[in-house]
Amino acid sequence: MRLVLVGPPGAGKGTQAEFVAAMLAVPKISTGDIFRANVGRGTPLGVTAKRYMDAGRLVPDEVTINMVADRLADSDAVYGFLLDGFPRTTPQAIALDELLCSRETKLDVVLELVIEEDEVIRRLSGRRTCRGCGKIWHIEFDPPRATDQCDRCGGVLFQRDDDRAATIAERLRVYDRDTAPLTDYYGAQGRLVGIDGTGPVEDVTARTGDALRSYLG
Ligand code: AP5
Repeated sequence: MRLVLVGPPGAGKGTQAEFVAAMLAVPKISTGDIFRANVGRGTPLGVTAKRYMDAGRLVPDEVTINMVADRLADSDAVYGFLLDGFPRTTPQAIALDELLCSRETKLDVVLELVIEEDEVIRRLSGRRTCRGCGKIWHIEFDPPRATDQCDRCGGVLFQRDDDRAATIAERLRVYDRDTAPLTDYYGAQGRLVGIDGTGPVEDVTARTGDALRSYLG
């Protein structure tokens, strides 16, 4: 299975990607996570990406496409993957189609998490992420037992730099301008499945599973 998960910042892509990837036994490939790992290690890619991420803008297509092409060449992604946060522009979507075509394969389905903007802001402003295992928490909707510690691995929780109010507003503007048009692109290919992203995490997970089963037959 080759899947893409799209939706606005804070829609719950990272949260649902964990479940979907485990259900389908495919690797979850998140461009945001790869960029953040590079920022953490201080690599040249991380230094470049940080400038854009902190401003709420997209990392340039060429950099992002090359990075994903390298990652999709890894042996664990040969027979399937779940892309979280890529593609995010029409040129990235075209590049992905061309890459898969050159490998004589194609995407199976694109899942779109649909959610209103005010809910996005509530979700992003309360998000905390574990430095150890990457588990995503929310101080109100999915709180850990201790404020700053991950229940799963005991790691320290942190708030992402790009989850400040001004940066969130810019990310939402960029989403509307550059990423939202992908629904037309994938809709025209007949691969797009919309999922209501509101309500508790378990409800969204159940809807996602149902949508996948009915789409795939
Ligand atoms: P990225 O990390 O991909 O950020 P994003 O798309 O803005 O999405 P988020 O990670 O913020 O949100 P999410 O939808 O995963 O929500 P989550 O599950 O965490 O990208 C960051 C940056 O990297 C970009 O701005 C850009 O600069 C760069 N970048 C990345 N990819 C790129 C690309 N392809 N091209 C160019 N640049 C790129 O959930 C959010 C919160 O809500 C959590 O606290 C969670 O616990 C909570 N929550 C989740 N579901 C629910 C629910 N159902 N009910 C209540 N709370 C919930």
